[in-house]
Amino acid sequence: MTVVITGATGNVGGNVVAGLLERGVPVRVTSRDPGGAVFPAGVEVAPADLTEPESLRAALVGADRVFLYPRMQDPDALVAVLSEAGVEHVVLLSSSAAAAEGVEDDFNGGNLLRRIERPLAASGLTYTFLRPDTFAGNASAWRHTIRASGTVPLPYPDSVQVPIHEKDIADVAVVALTTDRLNNAAPVLTGPERITLREQVAAIGAAIERELTVVEQTEAEAREFFGRFMAPRFFDAILGAWRASVGATPEISPEVEKITGHPGRTFARWAVDHADRYR
Ligand SMILES: NC(=O)c1ccc[n+]([C@@H]2O[C@H](COP(=O)([O-])OP(=O)(O)OC[C@H]3O[C@@H](n4cnc5c(N)ncnc54)[C@H](OP(=O)(O)O)[C@@H]3O)[C@@H](O)[C@H]2O)c1
Repeated sequence: MTVVITGATGNVGGNVVAGLLERGVPVRVTSRDPGGAVFPAGVEVAPADLTEPESLRAALVGADRVFLYPRMQDPDALVAVLSEAGVEHVVLLSSSAAAAEGVEDDFNGGNLLRRIERPLAASGLTYTFLRPDTFAGNASAWRHTIRASGTVPLPYPDSVQVPIHEKDIADVAVVALTTDRLNNAAPVLTGPERITLREQVAAIGAAIERELTVVEQTEAEAREFFGRFMAPRFFDAILGAWRASVGATPEISPEVEKITGHPGRTFARWAVDHADRYR
C-alpha cells in the first residue's frame, strides 16, 4: 500500500505522516515547495499544488490512498485526476462547518467544503470526510502578544469551545487510511472538554509558568486589531461564532475516543506540547 499525504508540511498532515511511518506504511508526501521543507527519512517527496490538479498526477502513480487538504479551486477536476489515477480511498480534511445547519448559505466555510465533499461522494471512490471542529492550534495566533506583553486581547473571552488537538485529528486519519472502519463515513471530531477562550489563555499561562492577562475588547476594537491580520469577511465569521458561543454548551463528540481507542487530548495538553511557541 502507498499512501499520498498532501498538506504534509501542515499541522495535521505532518502528524498523519508520523503516524503512518510508526505503523510501517510506505508514505509519499507532497508540497508546493518540496525543496523548502524537511521531511522524515524514508518518505518519497513529490511536488504538487492542489489548485492545479494536473500537478498531482505524478505524485499519484501507484497510490492506493490519499490524505487530501481542502485547498482547491476546481474540486471536480481534482476528483477526476484522483479517479483516473486509480486511487481507491480519499480521506479529506473537511470541517464540522460542512455538517452545520444552513451550510448551503455559508459561502466562506461550510459551503466551500461541501463543494469538495459532493463530487468525492459521487465519484465512486471510497471516501472519509473528517469534520473537525475548532482547532486548539488557533490559539497560536496569540503568541505574538503573549511573547511581547503577556496579554491576549479578546472581544468575547467567555466564548465556549471544544477545541481539538491536531494529533487527535491525525490519529483518526491514520485509522481511516489503514483500515476500512471509516469507509464512506463523515465523523464530526471535537476535543474532549468545553473550555472558554479565557480558560485557554490560563492553560497556556500554566504551561509556560507565566501569568497572562486577557484584555477585553469591544467589537470595534477587535475589528481594528484583527483587521491588521485578517480579511474582514473571515474575521466577521469568527467574531459571530465567538459572540454566539458565550454561555453555550457545544456538543462533545465521542468519535475520537471511539475511533482511536484513546481519550481526546485536552487543551492543557496542547498548551504543554506547544509551550515553546509562547516563550
Ligand atoms: N482552524 C480550524 O479551526 C479548522 C477547523 C476545521 C477545519 N480546518 C481545516 O484545516 C485546514 C488547516 O489545517 P492545518 O492547520 O494542518 O494547516 P496548516 O498547518 O496551515 O498547513 C497548511 C497545509 O496546506 C498545504 N497547502 C496550502 N495550499 C495548498 C495548495 N494550493 N496545494 C497543496 N497544498 C496546499 C500546505 O502545504 P505546502 O505549503 O507545503 O504546499 C500546508 O501543508 C484548513 O484548510 C481548514 O479548512 C481548520
